[in-house]
Amino acid sequence: MLIESALVAFGATLAGAVTSLEVQGSQFINPTTQTAFQIVGMAYQIGGSAGYDPSNNKDPLSDGEVCKRDAALMQVLGVNAIRVYNLDPNLNHDECASVFNAAGMYMIIDVNSPLSGESLNSAAPWESYYDTYLNRTFAIVEAFKSYPNTLGFFAGNEVIDSVKTGATVPPYVRAVTRDLKNYIKKNSDRSIPVGYSAADVRSVLEDSWNYFACSIEGEEDDMSRADMFALNSYSWCGDSSFTESGYDQLVAMFEGTSVPIFYSEFGCNTPSPRVFTEIPVIYGDQMTPVFSGGVVYEYAQEANNYGLADIANEGNQSVTLRSDFATLQEQYAKLDWTSIQSAAISTSNVTIPTCSKSLISGDGFNNNFTLPALPSGVQDIIDNGVSPKPTGKIISISDYSVQYTITDASGSTLEVSVKPLADDATNTPGSNDATTGNSTGTSTGSSSTASASSPAVRTVGGVVRSNV
Ligand SMILES: *[C@@H]1O[C@H](CO)[C@@H](O)[C@H](O)[C@H]1NC(C)=O
Ligand SMILES: *[C@@H]1O[C@H](CO)[C@@H](O)[C@H](O)[C@H]1NC(C)=O
Ligand SMILES: *[C@@H]1O[C@H](CO)[C@@H](O)[C@H](O)[C@H]1NC(C)=O
Ligand SMILES: *[C@@H]1O[C@H](CO)[C@@H](O)[C@H](O)[C@H]1NC(C)=O
Ligand SMILES: *[C@@H]1O[C@H](CO)[C@@H](O)[C@H](O)[C@H]1NC(C)=O
Repeated sequence: MLIESALVAFGATLAGAVTSLEVQGSQFINPTTQTAFQIVGMAYQIGGSAGYDPSNNKDPLSDGEVCKRDAALMQVLGVNAIRVYNLDPNLNHDECASVFNAAGMYMIIDVNSPLSGESLNSAAPWESYYDTYLNRTFAIVEAFKSYPNTLGFFAGNEVIDSVKTGATVPPYVRAVTRDLKNYIKKNSDRSIPVGYSAADVRSVLEDSWNYFACSIEGEEDDMSRADMFALNSYSWCGDSSFTESGYDQLVAMFEGTSVPIFYSEFGCNTPSPRVFTEIPVIYGDQMTPVFSGGVVYEYAQEANNYGLADIANEGNQSVTLRSDFATLQEQYAKLDWTSIQSAAISTSNVTIPTCSKSLISGDGFNNNFTLPALPSGVQDIIDNGVSPKPTGKIISISDYSVQYTITDASGSTLEVSVKPLADDATNTPGSNDATTGNSTGTSTGSSSTASASSPAVRTVGGVVRSNV
């Protein structure tokens, strides 16, 4: 008995794993709690595209100490998912994935990168759809499939951005979706959603969604159909409104969607600083029946001026929060996340449209659903797996403290550390109290309070302010 209770007590101090999400109809669902999930996401790419540097063994999830620093701050902010664009399948991501998992955050992973041969070329997609390209996308799946917090993969990002690219690219993105889903079906223990991240170009947006979300006639369980559809939207600027921003048109467009819809990027930066008044609308009654939340662009400041934090990428790696960070945190903190994240799963059945020319309305948008054939040799990779196989696994993290100096926008130094959450818990805005250090997350399991009340839980979580 003694041993058993000691084990139970010890078990309570281990960081839990988030519950892997599933797609059901037009929602992401948590199969443990049987609730619908809203993404409270953050675009995460320290150093921008230069942060992906395979020749120097560097990508945004390769440095565990940096991930601890950023996961701790995102925990305070309140996000429950990160989107990461450019990754090297051959680097070890275990520490970063485990830190984000312990912090209650999912990962949305782009399988492509801007380097040549690592994404579809939208000017000539037929030239870029070949064996080594697909092998690389499969290698990304291998590297991330075993982390429970991998929420999904993007087969493409903004490859269709104009009437011109709408004419040629869609069958290739749909083919990559098919290939990734076949790879996952054959090589992964669980089904992981695959989707597309669209540019919010209204001349091609609705057709893109219709093209990817339909099911090809006669195909049982059509593998080329997207599991989710997302858009990068910057139409809400300043203190706008549901109608002024055009969000109302998006809701009307996507109403009745057969796949989850979310913003894979949002956060217009004019005027600056930002006011983030879209937050209560994105997570409010007008949007949540159709949208599953969104990803704020972006965590780290770059030349394009969308960052929430200035980060010294070289040297001391210190972080200085910008005022936008606090503004976003305040907007999140105002909402009732318990009710937002406990919405019942929709019981109304979605109708999956059958692919046909009549679904496509734009002049010149591709309406050919005969997809490019799998390049030769690729079926072997799907059948036998990538070789050699990158691997990923959750590891135990013994020290969640942050090594680097953090300063807030008013010049105060912040003491932060990652607060590991209980099993099945996801991070929730407002739950990591900035002055008391309390952090409980939204628990979806019975052990919800074990983490918060257990004396064995590290007490270094949360934020303590001290004036400099
Ligand atoms: C496939 O991907 C793996 C992992 O990145 C790599 O080691 C291997 O060389 C690739 N094979 C081909 C044929 O591109
Ligand atoms: C870190 O380095 C940056 C620039 O390299 C400097 O501006 C900043 O003051 C340094 N911060 C600390 C805490 O040393
Ligand atoms: C949805 O589909 C299931 C399975 O076909 C059926 O049992 C259920 O009644 C349907 N629900 C609605 C609201 O139509
Ligand atoms: C549709 O695409 C397939 C595959 O690329 C091609 O063979 C076929 O000719 C196309 N059909 C039309 C009507 O363009
Ligand atoms: C923080 O946690 C302690 C101990 O569980 C509790 O007494 C206190 O009320 C909490 N404070 C806040 C602000 O939630």
